[in-house]
Amino acid sequence: ARVAVLISGTGSNMAALLYASRRADCPYEIVLVASNNPDAGGLALAKAEGVATFALPHKGMKRPEHDAAMDEALREAGADYVALAGYMRILTPEFVGKWEGRMVNIHPSLLPRYKGLDTHARAIQAGDAHGGCSVHLVTAELDDGPILGQTPVAILPGDTPDTLAARVLFAEHQLYARALEELVSRPYRADWLLQQVNAIAL
Ligand code: GRF
Repeated sequence: ARVAVLISGTGSNMAALLYASRRADCPYEIVLVASNNPDAGGLALAKAEGVATFALPHKGMKRPEHDAAMDEALREAGADYVALAGYMRILTPEFVGKWEGRMVNIHPSLLPRYKGLDTHARAIQAGDAHGGCSVHLVTAELDDGPILGQTPVAILPGDTPDTLAARVLFAEHQLYARALEELVSRPYRADWLLQQVNAIAL
């Protein structure tokens, strides 16, 4: 399967997906790394690794316009799947609809807990025993689609949001590659999961 990765920053999850894809039996390849931030560190890394990149600053562009241009770049690259990896832009329902069942995101919490930002601080503040990460299918609601995989990470006494984030990031890198491999190997599973969500919503 051909996967495009959308990033806004460091791109360590993108790097994890890319290096996992270099294994001979990996069922996906990264065909494009795209960003709304031309200075994203991950773009330079992808380039150095011989992966096509695309940068489109969102400043001065309306959201639907920006998403449409992104969508076009993804299609030109021949992507079958989109992996969001620290892409810090809310996507339009139109864009999400086009990629439904074929777009995934990684979120640094054990969803459904702590959607949105500052997940680690909120988990520590709440006195939770575990933080963690989740990979989920992207639906129109933020951080809300069917969960494909999760890894709990113990919160240690004295953890700060940064120390916890660093350990969760290790877990993210393992989980994301694995979940993406499973998704592209069994695409009907995504359709089935989305059907369950829609059945509940009806
Ligand atoms: C990760 O913690 C991801 O879960 C969150 O943003 C961070 C991105 O890190 N959405 P990186 O750019 O993949 O290093």
